[in-house]
Amino acid sequence: MKIFSGTANLPLSQEIAAYLGVDLGKILIKRFADGEIYVQLQESVRGCDVFLVQSTCSPVNENLMELFVMIDACRRASARSITAVIPYFGYARADRKAQGREAITAKLAANLLTEAGCDRVIVCDIHSTQALGYFDIPVDHIYGQPVILDYLASKTISEDLVVVSPDVGGVVRARAFAKKLFDAPLAIVDKRRQGHNMSEVMHLIGDVKGKVAIMVDDMIDTAGTITSAAALLKQEGAEAVYACCTHAVFRFDSWLY
Ligand code: R5P
Repeated sequence: MKIFSGTANLPLSQEIAAYLGVDLGKILIKRFADGEIYVQLQESVRGCDVFLVQSTCSPVNENLMELFVMIDACRRASARSITAVIPYFGYARADRKAQGREAITAKLAANLLTEAGCDRVIVCDIHSTQALGYFDIPVDHIYGQPVILDYLASKTISEDLVVVSPDVGGVVRARAFAKKLFDAPLAIVDKRRQGHNMSEVMHLIGDVKGKVAIMVDDMIDTAGTITSAAALLKQEGAEAVYACCTHAVFRFDSWLY
């Protein structure tokens, strides 16, 4: 087995390697003057099971392309198997055609990974679990939930809890979370978006009055969802509001178009 890191999150790759008691594989990744990506494995992977750790977080296009090039280098160097370890799987939000003439980028990214030569994928809290079915190769889906639960357990939080999904799409995730949190009741924010990266909270389903509200989401990007949901929960009488997410994308710059 060999583990190589892309440039998206080297400290995470180092932690994984240290945990497993192995060294990271040697790899050269650089950019040509025009921005093209160059990858050369600096050790043999012939016959090896190779794990490539690369989050496709922001800048998503750069990181995704870098992963494709890494996979291609491994395939051409006769690796026995190639597993892409993608903690944050970018492009997963467009997982269906919500309106006419849109692309389904989650499917496209899954196709391209397979096409590049990937044999298996490990992702953490993908935006929607239906996207797991877009892969024609095995996918292991892992969760950030245990880490968040450990964190909450370390805090002294009242037992009068309510777990809140900040949008309808996150209900399954929030319900699983509530089950682990003393079977807490569930509330749902019915969010209506006016446009990309703009969110508007419309309605709260459930009761949060006098309770500690714990919102769970897969990601915080512009923070529009979580901040408007928090304001609504306060307005509806929540005693305190916590927000938890797996992927801190934190891109607060607005859309260019
Ligand atoms: C929405 O479906 C997701 O689960 C997140 O709530 C959303 O992508 C977060 O984005 P933002 O922070 O920009 O509102």
